[in-house]
Amino acid sequence: MNDIWIVDFGSQYTQLIARIYRELGFKSSIFTIKDSLKALREKKPGLLILSGGPQSVFEDSNDYTLFFNQDIPVLGICYGMQLIAQYFGGKVKKGKIGEYGKSRVLQTQKIFSFTSFNAWMSHSDHVEVLPDGFSKILESENGLVAGIKKDDTNLWGLQFHPEVIHTEHGKDILAYFAEKSNLENTWKAKSILNECLETVSQVGEEKVLCAFSGGVDSLVAATLAHQKIGSNLYCFFVDHGLLRLQDLDHIEVLKKETNLNIEIIDAKKEFLSLLDGVDDPEQKRKIIGKTFIEVFDKKVKEYQISHNFKFSYLLQGTLYPDVIESTSPHKKDGKSVTIKSHHNVGGLPEKMNLKLLEPLRFLFKDEVRMMGKELGLDEKWLNRHPFPGPGLGIRILGAIDKEKIRQVQLSDQIMFEELVNADFYNKCWQSLTVHIPQKTVGVKGDGRAYEEVICVRIVESRDGMTATWSHIPYDLLDKISSRITNEVSGITRVVYDITSKPPGTIEWE
Ligand code: XMP
Repeated sequence: MNDIWIVDFGSQYTQLIARIYRELGFKSSIFTIKDSLKALREKKPGLLILSGGPQSVFEDSNDYTLFFNQDIPVLGICYGMQLIAQYFGGKVKKGKIGEYGKSRVLQTQKIFSFTSFNAWMSHSDHVEVLPDGFSKILESENGLVAGIKKDDTNLWGLQFHPEVIHTEHGKDILAYFAEKSNLENTWKAKSILNECLETVSQVGEEKVLCAFSGGVDSLVAATLAHQKIGSNLYCFFVDHGLLRLQDLDHIEVLKKETNLNIEIIDAKKEFLSLLDGVDDPEQKRKIIGKTFIEVFDKKVKEYQISHNFKFSYLLQGTLYPDVIESTSPHKKDGKSVTIKSHHNVGGLPEKMNLKLLEPLRFLFKDEVRMMGKELGLDEKWLNRHPFPGPGLGIRILGAIDKEKIRQVQLSDQIMFEELVNADFYNKCWQSLTVHIPQKTVGVKGDGRAYEEVICVRIVESRDGMTATWSHIPYDLLDKISSRITNEVSGITRVVYDITSKPPGTIEWE
C-alpha cells in the first residue's frame, strides 16, 4: 500500500516519473495498462499515476473503471488527466494547435507554496468542461485548464509534465501528491539493499555462475550476492582479446582488492580466429555473443569434472530499464519490450538449464551506484564509463586484426589517462576511441606518412538513449591528439566526433 504504480500510456517521460519518486524515497514501478489492471485485482498501490501518452482519449475505448473505483489516490498527468476528465463525464476538446513547450501556470486554488511557475506542456487535446464534482486548481496563461481535483478525494490531474526538468518546482509538485497520499518515503539505500539481498536468498546452497565484466552492474550484483552466498559464487571474466588496457588493469585490481572469487578465462585465440576477416558489425556481434556462450559452456562442463558440481544459477546485472515493458504507439498491440540485445550471455540459461538470478532488476543505474556505495565499493569503480560487451570489436571499423586492436587499446588508454588527469573523466558519460581504416597523408619527422585515423568520441548522456558530444576543453583535446599521434605507431591523424545522438549513435558500428 506504500508503493507508487505508474501506468505507462506511452509517454517518453514515464521513466522520469519513477526516477524522481525514487529519488524522493518512494518505491515506484512502471506497469503496462494490461498489467496494471491485472495487478489491481490483487493488490493496491499507495498512489496510482496515469502517465502522459501520444494518443487521444477519443481513440481509447478501454474500460478504466478499476483505476477509479478502488478508493486509492490517483494522479493523471497530461493524457492521464484527460482520461480522468472523460471518465467522470467532463468534456475533452480535440485540439488543433495545442500547447508545446514552456507555459506559465497559475494557481486558482492554494495548493503549492508557489503561486505561479513555468511548466512543460506537450498536448493537443485539453479539458474544456470539468466533470461534476471537480474543481480547477491550476490554469495556464492561455486560460486552459492545467490542473483538476475531484472534491474531497485524492484524485488529481495535471495537464503539464512535472517530471520534466523544464517544469519549475517539478519535484516539489510530485512530492506534494505523495505527501497527500500519506506515503512514507522508505525507499532508501538500506531498504533497497535488503530487498536486493532478499532476491539472492532463493539460491540456498546452490552454486552460482556470474558472467563478470568488472563493470558497475556485474560488480555490484556479484558483491551483493557474495554477501549472501559467499564461496558458492564463481565469477568468470572472459578475455576475448578485445578489451581495453584499463579493463585488464581493473580486473587485476578487483582480484586483489575484493574477496570475490574471480577467474580470468583467456579466450583470445578462440574469439580472434572466429572474427578473422569479418567486417559486418552485426555479424561481429553475433559471433562474439555466441562464442561467449560456448566459452562459458565449456567452463561449466570443466567444473563438473574438476569440482564435481553443477551450476544452478546465472547471476546477471540486469537493470530496470532493460526489463520494463513500455507501451509504444508504433506497435499495433501497444507494447514493445525494451530488452537490449547486448546481454552477451543471453542464450546461456536455456542452453545450460540455468535459473536466472537478477538482484538489480528493480533498479535504475543511479540506484545501482548507490547500492555499490552502501556495499563499500570504491567510487572509482562505480563511476566507470559503460563499455559494450563486444568491446573493441565494434570500435574497429571493418575487419579486425592485432595491429588495429593495439592501436585502439593504446589510444583509448591515452584518452583515459588524460581525462582522469584533467579531472574530466567523471564529468562525461562515455569516452571511446575508434579505429578508422582510412589512410590519410601526414608528415612525421622529416618524412611523409600515409597512415590511418583514430576518432575520439566523448559524450554526455543520461542513459545512452540520447547523447550530445562533450564540449571538452581544447587543451585537453590537444593533449590527447598529440599523444596519440606521437605514441601510437601507424596513426597520423586524430579527429573528434561532434555528432549528437540522434542522428548519430554513440558507437560507430
Ligand atoms: P549506441 O551506439 O547504440 O550505444 O548509441 C548506446 C549505448 O549502448 C552501448 N552499446 C552496446 N553495449 N553491446 C553492449 O553491451 C552492444 O552490442 C552495444 N552496442 C552499443 C554503447 O557503448 C552505449 O553505451
